Amino acid sequence: MRTSQPIRREDALVLAHYYVPDAVQAAADFVGDSFALARKAKESGKPVIVFCGVSFMGESAKILCPEKQVFLPAADAHCAMADMASEEEIRSMRETVPDLAVVTYINSSARLKALSDVIVTSSNAVKVVSRLKEKNIYFIPDKNLGAHVAAQLPEKKFYFGSGYCPIHNATTAEEVRAAQGAHPNALLLAHPECPEAVRALAAYVGSTAGIISYAEKSRADEFLVGTEAGTLYELRRRCPDKKFYVTRSTFLCEDMKKITPEALECVFAGEGTPVEVPERIAAKARIALDRMLELGA
Ligand code: 13P
Ligand code: SF4
Repeated sequence: MRTSQPIRREDALVLAHYYVPDAVQAAADFVGDSFALARKAKESGKPVIVFCGVSFMGESAKILCPEKQVFLPAADAHCAMADMASEEEIRSMRETVPDLAVVTYINSSARLKALSDVIVTSSNAVKVVSRLKEKNIYFIPDKNLGAHVAAQLPEKKFYFGSGYCPIHNATTAEEVRAAQGAHPNALLLAHPECPEAVRALAAYVGSTAGIISYAEKSRADEFLVGTEAGTLYELRRRCPDKKFYVTRSTFLCEDMKKITPEALECVFAGEGTPVEVPERIAAKARIALDRMLELGA
């Protein structure tokens, strides 16, 4: 169904995450991790943003840029972790723990962001939390990223949500050891959404952009990649002489794979539905997102 006017390519900034299909990454104006994509959206001078990613990414862009039209090529592409925290849990923590900051991973619904003091991504969480004046940190929803951040900030007291990414959290130390057996010279580069036992085996733990940059600068020439397989496209593009393997053949986020080249074409044909976030939610979520842009810079 046609829900908007056809969009002229020159009016749009096409943003893509590293997990979407290779052909969509190739068609985008900019490919990045969640933090870089949020910044690009905010800085864009174009009236339209086409966000090739899951719904929390499009929502965040719309919250940061209310004057722009934002489209998601696959409106039903959602992050499984985005609702793994509740308003009741946040309220109860605020009532019982003094001097508390509610720190919410960007992989969350707009509703959760609106209840938060600040938003973080995997690439800026340590920096942002270290700059907060509060001693007590309630980190939601991702328990794995939360534990990774807490380990680097012993001066803070952390309370964790119970959320997780079903895809990253399913990675085990045993499967990593098996992959290391097959590729004994490969360094493990892991996303912080992986469990502690996997992060402990890694030469580097960081965001998708951090993993790509580490591999590019490293003297090593073989890597095991502990994140979604779409990241291999940019790794191989930037480092054609190095070898990359994912820790498991099924390291795939099905929702990110819904963003096909055909779905992208449909947005330009005027068949996309613009992202809308009610202003009573967006106004509060914007404060928390803007605080991330300021503290995480
Ligand atoms: P990055 O911000 O590291 O790109 O991660 C986003 C994500 O969804 C990881 O699963
Ligand atoms: Fe969400 Fe996991 Fe997919 Fe990332 S890989 S978008 S955390 S479900």
